[in-house]
Amino acid sequence: MTKHNRAKYQPSGQLQFGVFFQGVNSGTIWKADESGSQTDFESFRRIAQAAERGLFAAFFLGEGLRLREHLGRPHELDVAGRPDAQTMLAALAAVTSRIGLVATQNTTYNDPADLAHRLSSLDLLSGGRAAWNVVTTDNAWTGANFRRGGYLDHADRYTHAEAFVETAKRIWDSYDPSTGQWQRVFNEGQHYTVDVTPRLPCSAQYRPVLFQAGDSPEGRDFAARQADVIFSAHPKFDDALEFRVDIVDRTLKAGRNPNDVKIMPASEFILAATPQEAVEKKAWVRSLQIGPQQAIAYLEQFWGRELAGYDPDGPLPGIDPVVEETSETRGSGFHGAKARQLADQWRAEAAEKGLSIRQFVSARTSRADATFTGSFAEVADRLAEYARTGAVDGFNISPWLIPTGLDDIVNHLVPALQERGVYPTEYAGSTLRENLGLATPARPAAQHSGAETVAGKAVQPEARV
Ligand SMILES: Cc1cc2nc3c(=O)[nH]c(=O)nc-3n(C[C@H](O)[C@H](O)[C@H](O)COP(=O)(O)O)c2cc1C
Repeated sequence: MTKHNRAKYQPSGQLQFGVFFQGVNSGTIWKADESGSQTDFESFRRIAQAAERGLFAAFFLGEGLRLREHLGRPHELDVAGRPDAQTMLAALAAVTSRIGLVATQNTTYNDPADLAHRLSSLDLLSGGRAAWNVVTTDNAWTGANFRRGGYLDHADRYTHAEAFVETAKRIWDSYDPSTGQWQRVFNEGQHYTVDVTPRLPCSAQYRPVLFQAGDSPEGRDFAARQADVIFSAHPKFDDALEFRVDIVDRTLKAGRNPNDVKIMPASEFILAATPQEAVEKKAWVRSLQIGPQQAIAYLEQFWGRELAGYDPDGPLPGIDPVVEETSETRGSGFHGAKARQLADQWRAEAAEKGLSIRQFVSARTSRADATFTGSFAEVADRLAEYARTGAVDGFNISPWLIPTGLDDIVNHLVPALQERGVYPTEYAGSTLRENLGLATPARPAAQHSGAETVAGKAVQPEARV
């Protein structure tokens, strides 16, 4: 970011929290005595209401349309049964009143007119609290369940995403609140052709807030052009600052005010009254997150073969991965030909550090960069520095225990942040847009004037901003 660009970005000095209820992962402990169910509404209700007690801006759900697989079977240790986000958020809208409701929905396997309508429905019924986390989805195996099937190249996924979001925005913009009238939206584009007469008015926050998650240069440019909030993968302080600088530059290039794009990285908090207790708690959390079976199952994703015979407390497997089974498009982190080379690297690293399978996997999945461990005061001081510098606008927190995993944060961290003047002491308003400090989008002039209306249709070609 040049000096000039830096001057155009003004940190708010404030933080917002979101809660990311993850259904499928190794980060939530589902097997402890205190664990709830990943499908019962009660788990979702308790987390959402705790978050609202802590003045969280958003309750966030991810999306995975098909379980990860290897060797032709779903991963046995993946928690199955993640309810559909929009259905769950609609139910949560009835038992909450202020928290934003964020549904991750991909642009590769949905259609814009249908999704715009469903998101408008959630936005209206929640009183202007809906958001859409726009993702492109990076896996091929999802496609098999959809009529189009197949796989879109990385570059094509973002071209589709842009056309998709622009089409959805046109549909939302087609309602004129000053007259209560809709324009018919006719859009003939390379990717989407729609002919829609929208059926729903604007919500209290005009249209759903747009989140984005996807970290490639294409993904970042897309966010800089289209998103209100980036769900980032950069929580570590230096990395977060670097990411902010990059996004400010890209936002300015896109012709937008950099303060209009908020950044909330993924994060995990392990907190206690004293620093020592927090360190002990972290060891306990990690031991429950990665048990012996999880450690073996984790390696199997990368090796593309059964490793059940290996001792979780012994060294990494000496045998090589099955290269053709190790494709990241099927949920594996090792991609094809790189698999053997990466397995060698891992073996060397584990041997050098004297780590067993379980210790090695635990270190790899510990989300070291995303974990804030310490006493409430210590962590509050660290977060205040993020607020002061504008490295982030908040954090999207994954609780490691459901449904009680937010209690420490709400009861102790939030008051400590409020004392430091970096966290809201009340909700700013009733809509998500107000609570995130986002301006209401301006309705495009062409739609205002109806200048492009031809024979009763607003002709809106698909085009990049
Ligand atoms: C923090 C974060 C969260 C994501 N959450 C989801 C998700 O819930 N569902 C999904 O299909 N993709 C998710 N994605 C993946 C993106 O959709 C995208 O496919 C992937 O990051 C590859 O795009 P990229 O190369 O631009 O990063 C997420 C990505 C990031 C960085």
